[in-house]
Amino acid sequence: MRPTRAVIHLSAIAQNLSLIRQMAPSSKVMAVVKADAYGHGIVRVAECLGDADALAVACIEEAIELRNGGVTTPIILLEGIFEAEELALVSDMGLQMVVHNQHQVDMLLANPPKLPVTVWLKFDSNMNRLGFDRAQFQQVYQALSHCSWVESVKLMTHFACADDIHNPMTREQLGAFQRLTGGLAEEKTAANSAAVLAWPETHFDWVRPGLMLYGCSPLLNATGAQHQLQPAMTLESRVIAIKQVQQGESVGYGAHWRAAEDTQIAIVAIGYGDGYPRHARNGTPVWLNGRTVPIAGRVSMDMIAVDLGARSDDQIGDRVVLWGPELPVERVAEYADTIPYTLLCGVTSRVKFHWQT
Ligand SMILES: Cc1ncc(COP(=O)(O)O)c(C=O)c1O
Repeated sequence: MRPTRAVIHLSAIAQNLSLIRQMAPSSKVMAVVKADAYGHGIVRVAECLGDADALAVACIEEAIELRNGGVTTPIILLEGIFEAEELALVSDMGLQMVVHNQHQVDMLLANPPKLPVTVWLKFDSNMNRLGFDRAQFQQVYQALSHCSWVESVKLMTHFACADDIHNPMTREQLGAFQRLTGGLAEEKTAANSAAVLAWPETHFDWVRPGLMLYGCSPLLNATGAQHQLQPAMTLESRVIAIKQVQQGESVGYGAHWRAAEDTQIAIVAIGYGDGYPRHARNGTPVWLNGRTVPIAGRVSMDMIAVDLGARSDDQIGDRVVLWGPELPVERVAEYADTIPYTLLCGVTSRVKFHWQT
């Protein structure tokens, strides 16, 4: 069998949740498991997050997958509903929903569900993505508070730049949220992973971490290990060929890379068809036998080439780590001009997943 696999370290995820609890000791935790738990497998991850106070997903399809998988933890739909028909399911499955636009308010007010629902009213504190402005928020707050099928209203906002500790925007967004909701007794949430780590004044009643659960640093220019987080995914494969390449010879499509001197090249069974980034440039580190070796030439659909140097003892069959505890995904992301989120979410179904407890 092709040796390309993703090993998910469930104990690391549980450990990262405990660390989050220590960082935000007075807050409940809404663990963000959208996008198949950032590529880690939504049901398996939810099972190991049994200790979380709630789970957050992007849409009802993800909530259905969780409920069908036997997960009973409270679930919040971060984008709310898209169509009125979803309301019946929200009520049947005991889901909570974000309300961020007037269309959603209209659907909710016009369609009493079987059981009352909890809604999270979203304030757009100037990220200009989802949520109501100040005046709309106050109106909708009144309407929802007086609606008999709204069990409770909770309040939320989202930060645009919390990953950058020098950016003043987080404080401005926080100020706007506090001015608007400071006098209201309802539960509040604002903090994503970056804010859990860097902005304790934003923790409120609930924190909403995603990325850090999976062991990555949400802050720029850092790795998860620097915050005591444990990487939850190892993406690994094996060497399937070793070549002698003479000085000046090229490797791979487009003859894009040339050997500066005589060297050995290992071919590894992983490529963009597995979710390894096509844009990983020459020099992107790959872990092999206790050190990192650089990518040489373009990433193919099923393979990459790495430069072993002139003298190496590496063999066909040797294990290679593309990212994981040995090699932070944050580093690979830098070389591929992207962010760890896209790499974790992008591992394709061709890769065999193993969940390790
Ligand atoms: C509304 C909302 N809250 C929380 C999160 C979690 O963010 P992070 O993964 O950076 O912790 C996200 C993720 O995109 C989000 O959209």
